[in-house]
Amino acid sequence: MPSSPIRMCGKPISAAEAARPARIRLGPPDLLGDRDLMPVAAGGLHLVLVRHGNGLVAAERACPHEGADLALGRCAAGRLLCPRHLASFDLDTGAVSPGWSFRPLHVVPVEVAEDGLWITPSQMEDADGGAGAP
Ligand code: FES
Repeated sequence: MPSSPIRMCGKPISAAEAARPARIRLGPPDLLGDRDLMPVAAGGLHLVLVRHGNGLVAAERACPHEGADLALGRCAAGRLLCPRHLASFDLDTGAVSPGWSFRPLHVVPVEVAEDGLWITPSQMEDADGGAGAP
């Protein structure tokens, strides 16, 4: 039997969205080690953890253009570079480099706490509800 969407405040949402916690732990505080980026799966999301300045950000792992794995890209000068077509994304805003017309990358700051690395997934979603969910 197909599951029916759950409604909250009149907006239909999926059961997975309804079950998503307010905060998601990505791993221990030293998860990234000396790397600049690495893939992370947590809370049903597929993300890339990226060093950005003195902090960390998490971005959706699939490129919003054609879904390339951004964990195979690289980061430089505050941008994450897609390995397939070489568009790059601002790590503060998710904005794509000039010349491309697809949506921005979902990016969220990572909170570094004694008990681990945390994100607030609702900061990552936009009108289409996308946040790197499989
Ligand atoms: S798949 Fe990333 S720029 Fe095309």
